[in-house]
Amino acid sequence: MDWFLLATCRGGAEAALAARQEAVLPSLRRGAWRRGIVTFRVPSGEPTDAFEHDLIFARACVRSLGQVGGDSDEARAAATAALAGPAPWRAVHVWPRDGKVEADVASIARRLGDALGVADAGGVARPGDLVLDCVVDSAERWWIGRHRATVPPTTWPGGIAPSVLPEGTVSRAWLKLDEAIAVFSLRLEPGQRAIELGAAPGGACQRLLAAGLDVVGIDPAVVDARVAAHPRFRQLRMRARDVKRRAFRGCDWLVCDMNIDPTSTMAALERILTTPGVRPVGVIATLKLPEWSRAEALPGWLDSFAAWGYTPRARQLSTGGREVCVAALRRAGRQAGPGVTSRATPRPRR
Ligand SMILES: C[S@@+](CC[C@H](N)C(=O)[O-])C[C@H]1O[C@@H](n2cnc3c(N)ncnc32)[C@H](O)[C@@H]1O
Repeated sequence: MDWFLLATCRGGAEAALAARQEAVLPSLRRGAWRRGIVTFRVPSGEPTDAFEHDLIFARACVRSLGQVGGDSDEARAAATAALAGPAPWRAVHVWPRDGKVEADVASIARRLGDALGVADAGGVARPGDLVLDCVVDSAERWWIGRHRATVPPTTWPGGIAPSVLPEGTVSRAWLKLDEAIAVFSLRLEPGQRAIELGAAPGGACQRLLAAGLDVVGIDPAVVDARVAAHPRFRQLRMRARDVKRRAFRGCDWLVCDMNIDPTSTMAALERILTTPGVRPVGVIATLKLPEWSRAEALPGWLDSFAAWGYTPRARQLSTGGREVCVAALRRAGRQAGPGVTSRATPRPRR
């Protein structure tokens, strides 16, 4: 039987999400669409339901059980329990469809937990848990769904990273990098060397330093004194394109968070990643999208990473703004030369 997929995203990213679905999952048919949520009809033969890997702009993808209404949270919780049935629920995730929807998420989660017999409802699930999902659409309406928790973002309510900014952190970029490390299961090892393009004021560098890496921050702007004073940190106070290419030799991780046009970011990465002898094990790059429609270029950008000898994955992080994070791990084999692309190659799902 066909079923409905409920995908939630950052408000405004719906068209980018739908365009991505058309490109990589053309057998799905788009259904209802509201700010922060898009539904798709999934044909019964579709082999997987782990759609968030493919959809990039979807933070959470759950199997829809339907909608509930009613004149109180109590009534809606009873209707949810009837829809949910007697399955072995282990977790309850509640989140608003959009930041503008007001909802007492903790109280709704408690109520649903009581109705379904789930302790600690509303918290992070464990891998393997069957999760009852509740997306608060408005004061009167909830969308109900379910999913099986597997990889980290599927254990977080709404795919929203639960990390809290540690005291003394100089920017929210700490949270973005922390989420990227968790989402893409990146293994940063103490003693490795990282270079960040667009490092000021230094939150992401603090996350790298906390992981035990030696860090070089490249940015014409001033890095916060607390970061600059760290014995494993050094700044090159200049624009990325003014740094000699040989400075990137021996770099294990290339992190990039420059607030410039994504084509300029890609040009900066190409210049570095096609330099002979520069082969970081991984790249973690933020591509800013001046408009969501710029996401149309994403397949080509991912192809460029592949042409440089990397396997890219992408996600619009819950801690990120109008941007997409690409994490690309080095493939074994020869390094690509400058200007090599494979845009004509048919695209696998990634
Ligand atoms: C979003 S902020 C980076 C935040 C930073 N990653 C952190 O952890 O705090 C963007 C930064 O990109 C820098 N930037 C813009 N163009 C750049 C360029 N061509 N080369 C290096 N840095 C650049 C800006 O000066 C700015 O500090």
